[in-house]
Amino acid sequence: MAGVKEKTLRALRETKEEYLSGEVLSNLLGVSRTAVWKAVQALRQEGYDITSQARSGYRLNKIPDRLLPAEISWGLKTRFLGHHIHYYETMSSTNIRAKELARQGAGEGTLVVAEEQVEGRGRRGRTWHSPPGEGVLFSFILRPALQPTHAPQLTFMASVAVAKTLREDYNLPAGIKWPNDIFIRGRKVAGILTELSAEVDRINFVAMGIGVNVNTELASFSPFLRERVTSLRVEKGHSLARVPLLQRLLLSLEEEYTALLEGGFAPLRRRWLELNLVLGKRVRIISPERSFTGTAVNVDEYGALLVQEEGAGLRRVLAGDVSLREGG
Ligand code: BTN
Repeated sequence: MAGVKEKTLRALRETKEEYLSGEVLSNLLGVSRTAVWKAVQALRQEGYDITSQARSGYRLNKIPDRLLPAEISWGLKTRFLGHHIHYYETMSSTNIRAKELARQGAGEGTLVVAEEQVEGRGRRGRTWHSPPGEGVLFSFILRPALQPTHAPQLTFMASVAVAKTLREDYNLPAGIKWPNDIFIRGRKVAGILTELSAEVDRINFVAMGIGVNVNTELASFSPFLRERVTSLRVEKGHSLARVPLLQRLLLSLEEEYTALLEGGFAPLRRRWLELNLVLGKRVRIISPERSFTGTAVNVDEYGALLVQEEGAGLRRVLAGDVSLREGG
């Protein structure tokens, strides 16, 4: 249920840069003028720029550049993804929080968003660095009726959704580097972390985390990362509004997820093949067991990468990293 604050925001938004008197607002919402004033104060605290004039009332001038639930919900076209939002100014990791919420019974589609992560996580115990307020960092809960062995298909699903959004809505040449990296012109712009709670034969929940470098300048990354990563700002030459990006990502993720559950892996795999950056390339595989060089030739329904090792046979790689640089 929307409270006075949410209803005030909606009314101010709908009047589009015009003044709305305190009296009209209080009649519209069925609350006292003091309650309206308090709601306006609360909105200002969140960063909304609202002017008040003695005779004219209130006017919304500018919405803050924050991933506030009210902003994400406004105009969100999804059926279920992002309908329950947990927003944090600072959080250890949105994946950690999503897993806690899932354990407490939070439903499919629950979204966790943070402006800043102090323990942002990447795959294989790595950290994910993103300066506060500059990226789109989010996790959501899924409860798919999939076999746990097929869970890597969800990473394929998310990679396709992210790459498609960047290509179709932002006109950027984004591609997928197996298993979970989104690259633009040879540099990583987004990463996906799929975490699973499962029994032998069923998935309890999946916490899927996505981090996109949006408005970060290259200088803000460490010298090591500076040569390897990029951001949408760097690629487009200007900063981008993060809320519409998140809304588009959520819609695309929901579409791909629904298509996977209804249509199986084969159609998703075809879309993935069109977007992938590794098949047919000479690659260096760095995996927990061993590292080797070969040619990436295929992916199977378990998400494994099939690599023709040089001077040896076909190898099936389920966990590991692909280096295109060192592959030559
Ligand atoms: C990777 O590239 O290894 C995966 C990076 C995933 C980063 C995102 S940011 C939001 C979510 N919360 C985390 O702690 N990690 C994911």
